Amino acid sequence: MKEFQTLHPHFLHGADYNPDQWISYPEILEQDPEMMAQAHCNCMSVGIFAWSTLEPNEGEYHFELLDSIIENLSAKGVKTVLATPSAARPRWMAEKYPEVCRVDKSGVREIYNTRHNHCYTSPIYREKTAAIDRLLAERYGNNPNVILWHISNELGGECHCELCQQAFRQWLRKKYDNDLDKLNHAWWSTFWSHTVTDWDQIRAPREHGEPDIIMTGLYLDWRNFVTYQTTDFMKMEIDTVKSVNPNIPVTTNLMWLPQPLDLHYLSQFLDVVSWDSYPSWHEPDQVRCAVDTAFNHDYFRSLKHKPFLLMESTPSNTNWQAISKLKRPGMHRLASLQAVAHGSDSVQYFQWRKGRGGSEKFHGAVIDHNGKASGRVFEDVKQVGIALEKLDPICGSKTEAKVAIIFDNKNSWALQNTSGFVNADKKYMKTCLAHYKSFWKRGVDVDIVNTGEDLSAYSLVVMPMLYSTSPEQIRLIEEYVAGGGTAVATYATGYVDETDLCYLGGFPGGKLKDVFGLTADEIDTLYPTDTNSVVWDGNTYPVVDYCELITPSTAQVLGTYGSDFYKGMPALLKNDYQKGTAYYIGCRDTGELSDRLYDQLLKELGITAYDLPEGVTINSREKYFFVQNFSYAPATVNLPGNYRNMETGEICNGCICIDSSNIVVLEKL
Ligand code: GLA
Ligand code: ZN
Repeated sequence: MKEFQTLHPHFLHGADYNPDQWISYPEILEQDPEMMAQAHCNCMSVGIFAWSTLEPNEGEYHFELLDSIIENLSAKGVKTVLATPSAARPRWMAEKYPEVCRVDKSGVREIYNTRHNHCYTSPIYREKTAAIDRLLAERYGNNPNVILWHISNELGGECHCELCQQAFRQWLRKKYDNDLDKLNHAWWSTFWSHTVTDWDQIRAPREHGEPDIIMTGLYLDWRNFVTYQTTDFMKMEIDTVKSVNPNIPVTTNLMWLPQPLDLHYLSQFLDVVSWDSYPSWHEPDQVRCAVDTAFNHDYFRSLKHKPFLLMESTPSNTNWQAISKLKRPGMHRLASLQAVAHGSDSVQYFQWRKGRGGSEKFHGAVIDHNGKASGRVFEDVKQVGIALEKLDPICGSKTEAKVAIIFDNKNSWALQNTSGFVNADKKYMKTCLAHYKSFWKRGVDVDIVNTGEDLSAYSLVVMPMLYSTSPEQIRLIEEYVAGGGTAVATYATGYVDETDLCYLGGFPGGKLKDVFGLTADEIDTLYPTDTNSVVWDGNTYPVVDYCELITPSTAQVLGTYGSDFYKGMPALLKNDYQKGTAYYIGCRDTGELSDRLYDQLLKELGITAYDLPEGVTINSREKYFFVQNFSYAPATVNLPGNYRNMETGEICNGCICIDSSNIVVLEKL
C-alpha cells in the first residue's frame, strides 16, 4: 500500500457533497461541478449519508446518481472521496430488523432516529453494511477519480444490547485468559462484595446498574471494549472495500479531544488520519481557541507521525454551537492554513451546499441558499483554494518536532472517572493545553503522543497528570530518561495502572520513583478560594487546585511551597537519572512557573524557539514556515535567514509584518 500522499501528491480542497438531497433539482446538480471549479475545489466527499438513495428498499440498489456525480465532478477536475454510507441507515432497515438500533444505557431499544446510532455488534447491520460496501467497491474501486475511502462518519457511541453484552464478555475472557480470578483482581471486586463468579453476571456500567465511578476497572474495560468493537466494525468495512482493490487508501473522520474512544488503537487500521475541526473562533480569548485547535491538529498528525487530512471545517459558522458566530474577515484563511501549518494536506468543509430542510440547513456551506458562486463566504473559500495551489510543494512534507507532550484518552477516562481530589473536573485537558501553550507561543513544534510510544526521537517529553500508566509505559519512560532524555512530570503521575489499581510502595509507581528521585506522599486539593505559591530562585509563582507533599530521595529541590502547613517543603524538583534529567512539578501552577521552566529547558536543550508577540505563533514543515497571527492587532516577527513568500514569490529577510488574523507562508532559502 503506497502512502496516500504518494498516490495523490496535492492538497485537497473541497467539501462534503450530498447530491442525494438534490435529486429533484437537476439544474442544481448540473451547476455544482462548475461552481466547484470556480471555488478552486478539487475534491468532494460523496455519499456519506446516502444509503436510502443507494438502497431505497432492501436489496434494491441504485447507483445511477453516484455514477453520474463521480463522472461530472471529474469532468471539472474534482476527485471523489467516496464514503461508505454506514453512518446513517435507511428507515426500512430499522423497521424490519430492530436489532440494528442501539439499546441505551437505561436498557431501552431505540426506534428509528437520527444517525450514528447503530449497534456495531449486530450481525444484520454488519451484513447489510458489508453488502453495500462491496457493491460500492466493485463499482468504483478501480475508478481513477475515486482517490480515498471515507469509512462511515464520526464513529462513536455505545450500545447496551444483549449481543453487545455477550461480545463484551467474550472480549473479557480473552483479555483475562478465561480466568475470573484475574478479572476479579484487576477490578478489585471484593470491594463491596462485587466478586464475579460467572462470566454471564458481567454487564456494562449502566443506569439502574453499576455506575461508572464505582467499579472503575469495569468501566475502563468497557471503554476499551467499546473502542475494540467500534474498530472491529470499521475494520470489517475496510476489509470489504480493500478486498476489491487494496490500493485505494482508507480514512475515517475523527473528532475533537478528549474522546471516549482510544483513537491511538483505532487509527492504526487507517492509511491516513483525518479529523473534523470546529473551533469557536472570536471568543474573547482567541488565543485559547487557537491553542486548543493547534493541540488537536498536532494530536491527529502525531497519530501516524505523518501529514493528516482536515476532513471537515465550516466555511463560515456552524448551526450547533451555543452561539453560531460568523468567521470574521481573515479567519477562514487563517484557520484553514493553520491546519496546513500543523501538517494537514487538505482543507475540506462541511458542506458544499446548504440543504433546504432538516437541522443543518443553517450550517455554513460554500454555497448558500441564494445559490450563487459569489459573496463573502464563497470568495473566502476560493481564496483558500488559490492559496493551496500556490502552497502545493508543501504537500506531503513532515513536521519534525523535538518536543512531545503525552496525552492519552485512556488516561483521561481513568482520571476523570476516579473519585477523589477535585471531583467536578480534574482539568486534564486544560492542564495539557496549559503546558502546550508555552511551546505554542514560542513557535516550537510539538508532537502529541500516546503513552506507550517510543520517545527516543524527542529532546524533551512533558507528561502532565499521567495518573494512569501501565508497567510497560513506565518502562518506556524510564528507558527514555536513562538514555539521555529530559522529562517533565506533574502532580498525580503514576498513581494507578491500566485497570485503575493503585501502585503499591509509593507514588509515582514503580521505577518512576527512581526516575524522578522522589515519592509523592499526599495530595492536597485546594478550595477555589485557596491559594498557595512556589518560591523558586527568589521568585514567587501562584499555585491553585493541587499541591503534593513530596519526599525527595535523590532529587534536588528547586522550588518550595510558599505557605500552609507544608510551607518550605519541595514543590519543584530536578533529578539526574543515568544519562538524562527528570523534572517534577508537584502542584498546579497558573502557567508562569511551568512557562519559566520550559523557557529554560528549551535554551538548555538547544531547541529553536522564538520571541514572539502575544497571539503569534510559528509552525514548520521541513523548510516551510507558517507565521500566524491570532491576536487582534498587527504584529512583527523576526526570523533568522532569508525566505521566499510562497504566495507572492517575494524574497524577503525574516522581518515579517503580519496583520491580525493572517498567516504568512515562507520557504527558507
Ligand atoms: C459533523 C458531521 C457532519 C455535520 C457536521 C456539522 O462533523 O460529520 O455530518 O453534521 O458535524 O458541523
Ligand atoms: Zn448492540
